[in-house]
Amino acid sequence: MAKFRIGVVTCGGDCPGLNSVIRAVVKTAIYNYGYEVVGFKDGYLGLVYNRFIKLGLPDASGLLDKGGTILGTTNNFDPFRVLVDHDGEKQYKDMSDRVADTLKMHDIHCLIVIGGTSTISIANRLIEKGINIVAIPKTIDNDVPATDMTIGFMTSVNTATQALDKLHSTAESHHRVMILEVMGASSGWVSLESGIAGGADIILIPEIPYDINLVARRILERKNQGKGFSIIVVSEGSRPLGHDVAQDPTIDDDVQPLNGIGSQLAAELEKLTRVEVKVTVLGYLQRGGEPSPYDRILSTRLGASAVDMIAAGKYNMMAAISNDQLRPVKISDIAGKIKTVPLDGELVQIARSIGVSFGD
Ligand code: F6P
Repeated sequence: MAKFRIGVVTCGGDCPGLNSVIRAVVKTAIYNYGYEVVGFKDGYLGLVYNRFIKLGLPDASGLLDKGGTILGTTNNFDPFRVLVDHDGEKQYKDMSDRVADTLKMHDIHCLIVIGGTSTISIANRLIEKGINIVAIPKTIDNDVPATDMTIGFMTSVNTATQALDKLHSTAESHHRVMILEVMGASSGWVSLESGIAGGADIILIPEIPYDINLVARRILERKNQGKGFSIIVVSEGSRPLGHDVAQDPTIDDDVQPLNGIGSQLAAELEKLTRVEVKVTVLGYLQRGGEPSPYDRILSTRLGASAVDMIAAGKYNMMAAISNDQLRPVKISDIAGKIKTVPLDGELVQIARSIGVSFGD
């Protein structure tokens, strides 16, 4: 009798921890349930064009501390809107039926989709076509609703915190303002948590449009207190008062790139404060490298939980963590939404109470 077979695919921006999720899925599926596992390559693209690899126990070894994803991923591939060349003319085509055809060809009972907000929105549309899906939340942005944490987030916070620690010493030596620009798309979680951990004096996030004059005032206040340096961490999606919060580039591919706010901020602050301001854009260092122990544990928990959910017939759910407990949620309840930083939340209040400025 044919074995019960599941599929697994990694979509969207990569992050530390993806390979440890794949490892947990494969090991749980084979050891606990005797399932077969088929990996699809390069995100949803592999499902449209049938690019796959059978995953056995040997494929799952050596993955726990390996950054990236052995399956590959794509950040802007939507099976409902594929850019194709039709008689020399570029046009978008709905190729989502090919996803169902590929899964049927491989006799896949349920597909595990590992991704962030845009991936989960696409997964919800595939569910509406009758495809069984279990999702696992991953993104360094931590902006997936209904889960406290996404895979990759804490490792990116570690990376950004270490960068802030390094910037402190050079800022103090040169009496400069140091700006660290971090990723996070249209949410400020990376900036907020690394800013607190890294002792930033000013934390700028998309959720709080900043007043450049108040940022400058905080720098000068510190200078008058004898602190000739300041540390600013700014989310790539942050904007000054009066400007729209930038959209998440992974949702709409004709949106202007998010990065560059750090340089704009530096130029304006140098004029207003007459203090030297230098910029470091952390960029893809936040997406690379080995996962932290926290993310390895989170990946293992969510990966194993996803297979357990399939075994229990709990399809069309996302494996999630709430108050450190596994608590699956319906994909349809979170599709199309993002989790932004609550302005009245504990972290923002605590940061303010220790004197951090949010430029407001
Ligand atoms: O969503 C994860 C993320 O790293 C965002 O923080 C960032 O804005 C985006 O992906 C970058 O996308 P790409 O890898 O396509 O440049």
